[in-house]
Order: sequence, then C-alpha cells, then structure tokens
Amino acid sequence: MIDRNNNRQKILELQLAKDQGFSSELQVECESLYSMFSSFNKSGSDDGQIIGITGSRPGEGATTISILSALALCTNPTNSVLLIDCNLRNPELHKYFNPQEQKDGLIELIEQGSNLTDVLWKEKKSGFHFISSGRPVDSPSEFLSTNKFINTLMQLKKKYRYIILDCAPVLNAPETSILASHLTGVILVVRSESTRYEIVASAKQRLVDANANIKGVILNKQKHYIPNFLYKRL
Ligand SMILES: Nc1ncnc2c1ncn2[C@@H]1O[C@H](COP(=O)(O)OP(=O)(O)O)[C@@H](O)[C@H]1O
Ligand SMILES: [Mg+2]
Repeated sequence: MIDRNNNRQKILELQLAKDQGFSSELQVECESLYSMFSSFNKSGSDDGQIIGITGSRPGEGATTISILSALALCTNPTNSVLLIDCNLRNPELHKYFNPQEQKDGLIELIEQGSNLTDVLWKEKKSGFHFISSGRPVDSPSEFLSTNKFINTLMQLKKKYRYIILDCAPVLNAPETSILASHLTGVILVVRSESTRYEIVASAKQRLVDANANIKGVILNKQKHYIPNFLYKRL
C-alpha cells in the first residue's frame, strides 16, 4: 500500500534521478508523460498550452500526475512550466513543496490584485513555477468561472510553454468541467483496478457535455503481474 509519504518520496526520487540523468526506473514514467505532452503539439507551434489534470473522484492521482508532468516537462530546459493548484476544495500541491515562506496564492492574485511575483514560487531543482491555491474561497465554482480568472490564465499562457492545472475531481466539482472548456485540453486520471467503468464514463460525459477537449486518459497505479521488462516486449 503506497501512502502519501511514499509518494513524496517518489517525487524526491524523481528529482534525484533527474540530477543523475534519470538513471532510475522513474525515467520510464517521466518519458511517457513527456511524450504524451509532446504529442499534443503536433504542429510544433510555440503557443502555450494549458492542460487541466483531473480524476472522476478524489484519490485517482490527479495531484500526483500534475506534479510528475511538471517535472517531466522540465527535463527539456527550453520548456517554461507553471503548475497551479486549481483544486480549491482540497488544495494539496503546497504540501509537496513546503515553501519555506508562506506566500499568497491564486485567490490573492485574482481577488486582491497581488503581484504575480508575490504568488509565484520556484521549484529549485526542476525549475518549474508554482502557484498555490491561496486562502479558501466560499464558492470555488464561481471563482474559477470569473472572467478575471480566465483572462489571467490567458495572460499567463503568453509567458509559459506549459501551464498544468491540478483540478478538483469532475464528479465532485462542477467547476472543473466549466474550467476545462476554456483550456487547451484536459487529462482524466483513472486509478487502475479501483475506479468502476461507469464512474469514469460519467466523468467523461460531464467533460464532453461541457465541450472540454479530452486529450487523454492516464491509467494510474497500474499493477504489474509479470516483471516490468516483459511488458515492454508485449
Ligand atoms: N502513480 C502513483 N504511484 C504511487 N502513488 C500514487 C500514484 N498516484 C497516486 N498515488 C497516491 O495515491 C494517493 C492519492 O493520489 P492524489 O494524487 O492525491 O490523488 P487526487 O489528487 O486525484 O485526489 C496519494 O496518497 C498518492 O500518494
Ligand atoms: Mg488532488
């Protein structure tokens, strides 16, 4: 059973592996995410992409995949990457990075006119930028659908090659579908051997109904019943 501490450990390992030229098995995971993101931009355009990462329900792995995606994209030093915690119901990203000094976040940037420099935090090893959610809001749905928020995202898109949004689960949070419709695309994370087909189908339908561009589905926490190297030969 993998717990959150183990996962933090995994992310640290990934950073370590990056410093050592990705010698560990995490290289494979990172490379898969990297090629998935690269496949989104077949035209090779320089336009920034805003990709939302979500699950059907809590616990699918959206936060984990958001972080791993940001790390993977940073393996190419020409990529500028911003990770934003858009799960205003259960913000978790800040817990992984423990900024030394508590900064304001997304809410303060949008609602209180804080400067971008006051809310941006830089992940030292990988170099991606990160914005936490900030103080809690009464209505996440209203907040994430304001023009002010969407316009800010579009401004940020001009500065970053990739913006990754860690979003609340689709079936728990109507704001995720609404937000997804404004993005380049959205990725649905599914916890393997745990989440029922009907749940995923219903989450997918909500995204389709909202006109979101579903870029792909990630089957997370896949168990390997035969040695990993054999899977690569199948
Ligand atoms: N690929 C993975 N490998 C190991 N642990 C994972 C993986 N994905 C998720 N987890 C663990 O599962 C739990 C839920 O993941 P999380 O990313 O917080 O889900 P969500 O954001 O969808 O609620 C966390 O404790 C996390 O450590
Ligand atoms: Mg989460």
